[in-house]
Amino acid sequence: MNILVTGGAGFIGSHIVDRLVGDGHRVTIADSLVTGKKENINRKAVFRKVDIRSGKMDSIFRSGRFGAVFHLAAQMDVRKSVSDPIYDADVNIMGGLNLLENCRKYGVGRFIFISSGGVMYGECASDPPSEYVYPRPLCPYGDSKLALEFYLNFYGSNFGVKCVTLRLGNVYGPRQDPYGEAGVVAIFCGAMLSGTEVKIFGDGEQVRDYIYIDDVVDANMLALNRGAGIYNVGTGKSRSVNDIFGTLKKITGFAKEAVYESPRPGELNRSCLDVGRAFKDLGWRAETGLEEGLKKTVEYFKSKN
Ligand SMILES: NC(=O)c1ccc[n+]([C@@H]2O[C@H](COP(=O)([O-])OP(=O)(O)OC[C@H]3O[C@@H](n4cnc5c(N)ncnc54)[C@H](O)[C@@H]3O)[C@@H](O)[C@H]2O)c1
Repeated sequence: MNILVTGGAGFIGSHIVDRLVGDGHRVTIADSLVTGKKENINRKAVFRKVDIRSGKMDSIFRSGRFGAVFHLAAQMDVRKSVSDPIYDADVNIMGGLNLLENCRKYGVGRFIFISSGGVMYGECASDPPSEYVYPRPLCPYGDSKLALEFYLNFYGSNFGVKCVTLRLGNVYGPRQDPYGEAGVVAIFCGAMLSGTEVKIFGDGEQVRDYIYIDDVVDANMLALNRGAGIYNVGTGKSRSVNDIFGTLKKITGFAKEAVYESPRPGELNRSCLDVGRAFKDLGWRAETGLEEGLKKTVEYFKSKN
């Protein structure tokens, strides 16, 4: 199939591109490289350096004859969304709409949108939220992701574009950036491998659903042919920052204790996901345990040093 991957030079997008190319698809990447990296770009894919908000997307769709689009390009820094919500909305809502309009115009059959389960439900109760729980993002980044989810609903019902939203937990693994949602893994790996101080903000008991990149790619591949609507994509288990620190300490042999600092304002205490729907509809569940995923991530960061 001819497939467009927006954000295909980024952490998650580049892994999706690699898998699609490996499976024999013809892939085009649309990425402005605002945070993406040239070295992540798969050489067998066609690369277009373009902003998803640009009118140039029209000719990319016209010549690409895409059967499906994976949409990952985004402003995805929560703090930036707070300091500049207009830029955040422009990229995440207007940029996304520009793609959906092109899907309508050029008859693209499937649109897979990568949203965020980490911010969608706000502060979570002890029961992990399913997709049926009313979303309550507490930052403009979550608001803009949610807005595009609603547009998907409209385009899916009215213009025959089959739409799937994957609300990812906190993704970690090779190529991840310290600034991403699961940035703590990359930050801790970097500090531990260079023997510098590891800082934990708050008491370290704040929990997230940390999911390894290969499992996320598997869910995306299934969504290419199956499913409709919204799916949480996580492990279903919540792990604390102290857990991440302890496990990485064991793997790297880091000898120092963490330095605890005051909590960062606005940070969630509890973010977790019920992933039953993805198993039921897509036949997907995360296969990689935390220790195994962190070991692979540490190997990657070691090879970069
Ligand atoms: N990393 C996580 O834990 C996580 C969790 C949930 C959801 N997500 C979502 O996954 C997607 C990918 O995130 P990532 O962690 O790989 O981040 P990333 O920054 O590595 O990737 C984003 C890519 O989008 C590109 N981009 C940004 N704005 C663009 C624009 N206007 N036009 C064209 N390209 C643009 C960047 O250059 C980059 O290559 C994002 O949509 C993000 O919201 C990530």
